[in-house]
Amino acid sequence: MDVKEDESEAILREFREFLVSYLRGKSTSEKRGYPWKDSWQYIVSHSLRVESYAKELIELEGGLSESEALMIRAAALMHDIGSLDDRRRHAKTGAGIVENFCRNKSHITARLNVKTLLSLILTHQKKDGKEKKLPYAILKDSDILDELGAMSIFMISHQADRERYDYYAQVLKLLERNEYGFFKKQEQRLSTLGARKIMRRKFAFIKQFALHLRDELKGTEKLKL
Ligand SMILES: [Fe+2]
Repeated sequence: MDVKEDESEAILREFREFLVSYLRGKSTSEKRGYPWKDSWQYIVSHSLRVESYAKELIELEGGLSESEALMIRAAALMHDIGSLDDRRRHAKTGAGIVENFCRNKSHITARLNVKTLLSLILTHQKKDGKEKKLPYAILKDSDILDELGAMSIFMISHQADRERYDYYAQVLKLLERNEYGFFKKQEQRLSTLGARKIMRRKFAFIKQFALHLRDELKGTEKLKL
């Protein structure tokens, strides 16, 4: 399948529009512990970010055809589309939704392998760092990379008690005690060299941030009130 760049972009736009129209207005009673994550709009923004990582990894890894690149980016956009219908089985639900969407759309089926697209969505949850098939590895790694890095700081800050005087010190402690370990765990779940490279960049930033925060807290290290 030979696909031109502008044709790919038009198809991706179609998938993006479908994502928004399918999720619009849906709600969830499940709480994820971070209030900004409990909306359909959050799923849209997460999916767009995962697609962006997928695009970066496609370039970093190289060797994929235009059709495969299109398929991976479409899978990234669609991978969580079922999560407001059935969170636990969202991969299977999502694959069904996308199968219906692609049915009878010959301009899509002619340009990407829909069977593999559905399989990518169906299997995206199992992330053990051992994925050999590049399209699958890229999708899984892109999903892992989202919300690590600068965003980690917002999530860590949300766990700290903002009513207390030592809020900054708590954030530092959470970063150094929990987040470093979490980064290492997530790194082990990655399958591509490209994603490991991005992860290292993110980790270096977090460490740098913690160093600055530690420096700014000087003089209060032993303070207990
Ligand atoms: Fe995801």
